[in-house]
Amino acid sequence: MKRAVWKREYEIGVEKVDQEHMRLVKLCRAMADAILVDKDEAVMGQVLAALKLYTEEHFRDEEVELERLKSPLARRMKIAHARLEAQLHLIIDGFGKRPHTQTLDDLLGWLETELLPHFTGMDMSAFLATPEGRKAHVRRLYSVA
Ligand SMILES: [Fe+2]
Ligand SMILES: [Fe+2]
Repeated sequence: MKRAVWKREYEIGVEKVDQEHMRLVKLCRAMADAILVDKDEAVMGQVLAALKLYTEEHFRDEEVELERLKSPLARRMKIAHARLEAQLHLIIDGFGKRPHTQTLDDLLGWLETELLPHFTGMDMSAFLATPEGRKAHVRRLYSVA
């Protein structure tokens, strides 16, 4: 079983973005826990609803921030987010209609093969393509304070 663990290498250095990314990983983990200990279906539904909400909130926050920073990847980010959202919606739509273990596999698969690579790939590139983002990244990586 894969573990949805947060790693320092996922961090971009832009605090708000990293905090939101961490929260999304935690919510995936909370969903995995809920399924593994066989929590009430209503509880699982609440966790999924929170995941959907926070994912959308995060994507919008990030898009606004990248526009503000005038990142050259701002427009491509919106397209990538729409794709990720559509994938998550499919998983959520299947919840309750398929075995919960299938939802768990799909969700952790989405996290490991789509969301986390998005954080370390496109998100990282989009922020590092801006002076402010680069500064935050360098400060996070190299500051000893
Ligand atoms: Fe992000
Ligand atoms: Fe993103």
